[in-house]
Amino acid sequence: MEAKELYDNILKLMKEHHNWFNNSIPLIASENIPSPAVREAVVSDFGNRYAEGWPGERVYAGCTYIDQVENICNELAKKVFRSEFADCRATSGVVANLAIYSAFSNPGDYMIASSIPSGGHISHGKKEHSGTAGLVHGLTIEHFPFSKEEMTIDTDMTKKKIETMANEGKSPKIAMFGGSLFLFPHPVKELSDFLHSYNIYVNYDGAHVAGLIAGNQFQDPLREGADSMTMSSHKTLWGPQGGIIVSLEKYGESIKKAIFPGNTSSHHLHHVAGKAIALSEIIEFGEEYAKQVIKNAKMLAYSLANYGFNVLGEKRGYTESHQLAVNISKYGDGGNIEKDLEKCNIILNRQLLPGDIKEGRNYLHPSGIRIGVPEVTRLGMKENEMHEIATFIKKIVIDKQDGSKILHDVIEFRKRFQKVQYAFDNETSAYEYIQLVNRDK
Ligand SMILES: Cc1ncc(COP(=O)(O)O)c(C=O)c1O
Repeated sequence: MEAKELYDNILKLMKEHHNWFNNSIPLIASENIPSPAVREAVVSDFGNRYAEGWPGERVYAGCTYIDQVENICNELAKKVFRSEFADCRATSGVVANLAIYSAFSNPGDYMIASSIPSGGHISHGKKEHSGTAGLVHGLTIEHFPFSKEEMTIDTDMTKKKIETMANEGKSPKIAMFGGSLFLFPHPVKELSDFLHSYNIYVNYDGAHVAGLIAGNQFQDPLREGADSMTMSSHKTLWGPQGGIIVSLEKYGESIKKAIFPGNTSSHHLHHVAGKAIALSEIIEFGEEYAKQVIKNAKMLAYSLANYGFNVLGEKRGYTESHQLAVNISKYGDGGNIEKDLEKCNIILNRQLLPGDIKEGRNYLHPSGIRIGVPEVTRLGMKENEMHEIATFIKKIVIDKQDGSKILHDVIEFRKRFQKVQYAFDNETSAYEYIQLVNRDK
């Protein structure tokens, strides 16, 4: 294809993507829909500039307005997360974690974190799995013991494991709480003092649950003893893609150096502006949103369980977060079910569940699916809609009904939810394609 044909094709494909999402039920737990104002920040000229360093101490000219926005962003992050220090320059959640590894450990040190089937993220992972902690920073990873019954880290077993590691001269430098499959709070309060008594730095990866923490509806890691919290800015926190770190003041200088020059050069200033806008929206609407997210996740879990699905965490009411996990192995595997649902415009992802690796499964064909409600909640859906979504899923997965009829019904259902809610401005439709060039002339 000629360059111009490719150019036209790219623009056409982006438009088609918008149209598809406008007709879909987006249930990926790590995604959200930003407000039109956040999208405006992302296409602004901030995205074409450099501002290496800290506001007021840049090594580039042209930062007069950028500095003001970045200062506002850091102040908003401190307010939202009730922290002494904030740095909004990490370009992603992975970069935020990498900055913590760089600041508080050396290659060859140990870190304790959750395994991937127990909810850990690949950025906490071992070198042999190409995990960031192992591969990029040379950490040796040990896993938190996990209780399948409680669907969270086992406190007593963790204490025993740390004691054993210390006796063997392998005491971890960092304990990494938080994760990607994250139904219930982690025992930060129960373990922080114990971990500190072994000089272990405690980080909480709130990539998934930052918006719930901001809305005061999940645990509160910095009050529970975590030294810092890393996060993505675009999951339950509804900003543009990026990362944020908040911490105690005494760790601020080390984190600043680890972000720049340690792990970033350009820190994507359009995204800093978008993060600032998203944080201002959180102050106004965050609590109401977070409450509805959790109500929706619980309702979806109960509706699916009533239809006979094996929803994890039954003993504890399935979930206290924005997501739920379903062991789908009775009907196929997570990979195939994900595809069947996608054909009907229901978009979610396959998920490794605790025990999967031991049973010989892998990430392509795991036993589970993970379902998240941050985006559908931002579109204004409430408990009744969660029941409708559960019914669509049942018809596809259990009843194996005709997909074309369900696809039609899903598209009709979505027509009722066109705007981003919990925002100062929502005139522009949620998935409207922002076209800057008139190509129809
Ligand atoms: C727990 C956790 N940490 C870090 C990340 C990485 O975030 P990002 O994609 O912003 O780099 C994710 C992404 O899903 C995550 O789930």
